[in-house]
Amino acid sequence: MVNEKELVGIEAAKYVEEGMVVGLGTGSTAHHLIVELGRRVREEGLHFVGVATSVQSAELAKEVGINIQSFNDVKQIDLTIDGTDEFDPELNGIKGGGGAHLIEKIIAVNSDRVIWICDHSKEVAQLGAFPLPVEVIRDASQHLYDSFEVKGYAPSYRLTPAGDKFITDNGNYLIDLHLEKIINASQLAEELIHLVGVVEHGLFLNVADHVIMAKADKIVHFYK
Ligand code: 5RP
Repeated sequence: MVNEKELVGIEAAKYVEEGMVVGLGTGSTAHHLIVELGRRVREEGLHFVGVATSVQSAELAKEVGINIQSFNDVKQIDLTIDGTDEFDPELNGIKGGGGAHLIEKIIAVNSDRVIWICDHSKEVAQLGAFPLPVEVIRDASQHLYDSFEVKGYAPSYRLTPAGDKFITDNGNYLIDLHLEKIINASQLAEELIHLVGVVEHGLFLNVADHVIMAKADKIVHFYK
């Protein structure tokens, strides 16, 4: 059986060119991208600078031989390639299934071009079936949680496999909102980002330029 995540990760690695500064996403699809880019560095002599969107991706990238620099140390990012949890026909999406959406968004909005890579389960007609992650300051978390409950947003804390509250790379908690359907994504994005104590939410609106999706053994492209 075809591994769609691997197929699309390998395909997307072809978009990285000599001398680029490239944002490297997080998650199981981005994992394949990073491994393939490492192969290109070692076997093809490709030179590029990677800017990682998580500690996990930075560690993998270094392991496979990619030159990683911090976002603060590069002038601009030419291209970011990242996974997504959902994308709709306008190429808006929900991200943060791996808890890395804060840095993923910082890197993406500072990139000249953004490509999302995914298996075919991520294509949706309307966003919202995937729980929307909201990264929150720990000291504000319970009050935010309670207010989400009052609004009917069906919150749950992101937990580790051991049952502890998940702590992001930035030292915050995650609250997932089980919304089922998001009717007005831009209104919700505005509302969430203005709540004091919310650091960032997982709605990525007008961020992706191109989605590369694998469906069985086929590659399908969606453009903005
Ligand atoms: C991490 C993310 C990932 O890109 C998203 O969860 C997709 O992950 P995967 O490729 O494992 O399906 O947003 O914060």
